[in-house]
Amino acid sequence: MSNTAFDNPFVRIPDGQTRLLGVIGHPVAHTLSPAIHNPALAWLGLNMRYLAFHVHPERLAEAVRGFVAMGMVGFNATVPHKEALLPLMDWVDPLAQRIGAINTVAIDETGRLRGYNTDASGFTDALTEAFPRLDLGKTAVLVLGAGGAARGVVVGLLEAGAPHIVVANRTRSRAEQLIADLAPCYPGATLEAVALTLQSLPLAECDLLVNTTLPGSESAAVQAVAMECLPKTALVCDIVYTPPETPLLRAAKEHGLATLNGLGMLIHQGSRAFTLWTGQKMPVAPIRERLLGLL
Ligand code: ATR
Repeated sequence: MSNTAFDNPFVRIPDGQTRLLGVIGHPVAHTLSPAIHNPALAWLGLNMRYLAFHVHPERLAEAVRGFVAMGMVGFNATVPHKEALLPLMDWVDPLAQRIGAINTVAIDETGRLRGYNTDASGFTDALTEAFPRLDLGKTAVLVLGAGGAARGVVVGLLEAGAPHIVVANRTRSRAEQLIADLAPCYPGATLEAVALTLQSLPLAECDLLVNTTLPGSESAAVQAVAMECLPKTALVCDIVYTPPETPLLRAAKEHGLATLNGLGMLIHQGSRAFTLWTGQKMPVAPIRERLLGLL
């Protein structure tokens, strides 16, 4: 299908009615979100633009007040603002409260700020899109890492009905804290914390392995995961999308296991935010195609 506005997101020149969206981060220059949202807005003919704003943590509250004053529709937040946004909201979605982080803010006509977290559902959307036959209600999951990203992934999986999740972290006490926070909200699920070591990972009982540890530390995750101990049917995910094939995913592929990188999660968290702001569905397939061309 041909759509000149999609090929050139600036074909429609902003005018007096153009509304603004954006993403805040520190740093923010690396973000792919404008490359997701601007083509999607253009594709649907919406008179909005999405920009990246470098906001220093000390000026977060000031920036948010400015966004309200300017009548912005909403914004995304990335590191390090996701937790600090919570007290600045007029209303926080219960799931975002549970995760302890906001990645999407919608500003209504009266200037009220509503905070959401679309990372959790973005992860499970990507997972079920890539593996349509996966029944999360019967899936035993092993999550590597217990930071902010892991919290989103674990809540997404629990919301989707995952019955058994083991969280493995270098600092075991942090995994224990994550579980202590979430277990009371999901009494039907069994949650367990272990150390991130070769000996302690329950690989033989794992249907789905998700790595949320930072890319720089990935070798630690790779070293701890003996791929040959995973069942042949296990799925291996990394929430990183650059590089598209991390050492963990490469090792999994070499063992014949199905893999998924973080690109789908990135697109789907964006898609959920897009719907909160515009009430419309993002054209996910062409956006993915375009992003793959950029990466
Ligand atoms: P994010 O929001 O991306 O999750 P974070 O909250 O700083 O970032 O969490 C980083 C995660 O990567 C943590 O699970 C961290 O483990 P610790 O809690 O023990 O710090 C993990 N991580 C970072 N560097 C690591 C390393 N060298 N080896 C293993 N895990 C590491």
